[in-house]
Amino acid sequence: MKTLIKNGTVVNATGSATADVLIDGETIAAVLAPGSTLLGFDVEANVDRVIDARGKYVIPGGIDAHTHMQMPFGGTEASDTFETGTRAAAWGGTTSIVDFVVQYAGENVLEQYRKWHEKASGQCAIDYGFHQILSDVQDSSLTAMDELVAEGVSSFKLFMAYKGVFLSDDGQIVKAMQRAASNGSMIMMHAENGSVIDLLVQQAVAAGNTGPLYHGLTRPWQAEEEATHRAIMLANLTGAPLYVVHVSAKQAVDQIAQARDRGQNVFGETCPQYLYLSLEDNLGARSDEWGGFEGAKWVCSTPLRASAEGHQHHMWQSLATNDIQMVSTDHCPFCMKGQKDMGLADFSKIPNGIGSVEHRMDLLYQGVVDGKISLERWVEVCSTTPARMFGMHGTKGVLQPGADGDVVVYDPNGHTSIGVGPGKTHHMNMDYSAYEGFEIDGHVDTVISRGKVVIDRGEYLGAKGDGRFIKRGLSQYLI
Ligand code: URP
Ligand code: ZN
Ligand code: ZN
Ligand code: ZN
Repeated sequence: MKTLIKNGTVVNATGSATADVLIDGETIAAVLAPGSTLLGFDVEANVDRVIDARGKYVIPGGIDAHTHMQMPFGGTEASDTFETGTRAAAWGGTTSIVDFVVQYAGENVLEQYRKWHEKASGQCAIDYGFHQILSDVQDSSLTAMDELVAEGVSSFKLFMAYKGVFLSDDGQIVKAMQRAASNGSMIMMHAENGSVIDLLVQQAVAAGNTGPLYHGLTRPWQAEEEATHRAIMLANLTGAPLYVVHVSAKQAVDQIAQARDRGQNVFGETCPQYLYLSLEDNLGARSDEWGGFEGAKWVCSTPLRASAEGHQHHMWQSLATNDIQMVSTDHCPFCMKGQKDMGLADFSKIPNGIGSVEHRMDLLYQGVVDGKISLERWVEVCSTTPARMFGMHGTKGVLQPGADGDVVVYDPNGHTSIGVGPGKTHHMNMDYSAYEGFEIDGHVDTVISRGKVVIDRGEYLGAKGDGRFIKRGLSQYLI
C-alpha cells in the first residue's frame, strides 16, 4: 500500500514547510515539494491512496514515553488494558507508547519482563516499548539490566518514594546507577522524599485530615526538590544519565536546569496535569456529585501544585526554553467507582494516577494556540525528543525517508471537546475525564501507524495486535 499525504504543512522539530509525504508500505519513502515528481515519475498517479491535507498540519505521530497500562498498583489495577489504552492513544494522535514493566521487591526482573510481554503481545493498537521498574536492586537485577539493554529496554525507573512498595534506598539507587553508567542505559527517577511524605501522611490522617486535598498537602514541593537534588548528586557521582519523571514543582525544575547548566546529563519530563491542573481547583474540588471527595479524580504523584505558587506558569516557560525536555502523560487511570473510592475515608488509600493518554497531543497543541510554545516545539516535546531520549531516533519522531510511517494529520481549524458524553472525546476505560470541559482549538483528523490508517475523521479503522514491540537503542539525546 502506497499513501500520499499531499499539500499539508509538514511540521518537524527543525522546521515546517508545505510538502507531500509518501509512505510506501510501513515506511516513509519521501518528503517532496508539493506536486513534484520523483525522478520523472508521477507520484500521485502511482499511489493507492491520496490524503489531501491542505490547510492542515502533518506531524510525526506522538510518542508517549510514560504510561501504565493494566498496572497492578495501590491495591487495584490501572483500568486501561494494553488494548483499550493504546486504542485511546491512537484516537488522540499518539502512535507509540513506552510502558513500564513492574518489579516489586522480591520479584525477579526478567520474569516480570517476560510477563509484561505476555500481557501486551497481540493486544496493542499502536507500537509499544518498555522501560523496566527496579524496586529492590538484587544482584540478579543488575545482570538483568545488561540483558534488557540487549533486548531493547534501555531505561530503568527507580523510586525514592512508596516505602514497602517500590522505594529503593540510596545505596540501591547508586548500585543501579553504576550499572547504567557502565551499560549506557538511562536512569529514570520518581523523585520525592518518601520517608518525609509517609510521616506527613500519618500525621494528617491521625489529625482527621482525610480528604483528597491532603494528598497534595502531604507531598510538598520541598520533598520533590530535595529528592530531585539527591538524585542529581547520585547521578553525578556515578556518571549515569538521569531522566526525572513527572516533574511538577518549579523548584525541582530549577534543580534540573542548574545540573544541565553544569553540563550534566540530566533531563526533565512533565505531564499535561502539571501544565493545566492545580491543587486548589482540582484536588480541592467539591462537586455536588462527589462532595469533598471529587479531588480523588486528580490524586497522582507527584501531586498537582498550587497555582498561587506559580508552578504551572514556570513549567510552560521551562518547556519553551528546554529546561524541561518533554511531555508524557504518566497515564495511570483508575475509575472513581470501585477504585478511587477505596480512599473515601482516607486519602492515602486512593490509588495514585490520572489517565490522559488520549489528550496529550491536543492539550499541548492548545499551548501552541495560546502562544506558550511554537508549533515545532509541540512536535519536539511530544514526539521528536521522546524518540531521541529513548533510543528510537530515525524510525520514530520525525518525518523523513526511512522513518516509520507514523503520521498524524492535525486540523488547526477543527475543534475538540474533551470529556465524557456525546460529542466529546473519551475512549479511555475511565468513568470520568480528568479534563472534562476542556475545549481545544484543533482536531486529530487522521492517524497512520506504520503505514496503516488507524483513525480517520472519527472512525477507528485499526485492530488489536496492529502494534509491535519497539526494540529501542541507547539514548540519542546525551551530551
Ligand atoms: O500517580 C502516579 N504517578 N501513578 C503512577 C505511578 C508513578 O509513580 O508514575
Ligand atoms: Zn512515578
Ligand atoms: Zn508513572
Ligand atoms: Zn477535523
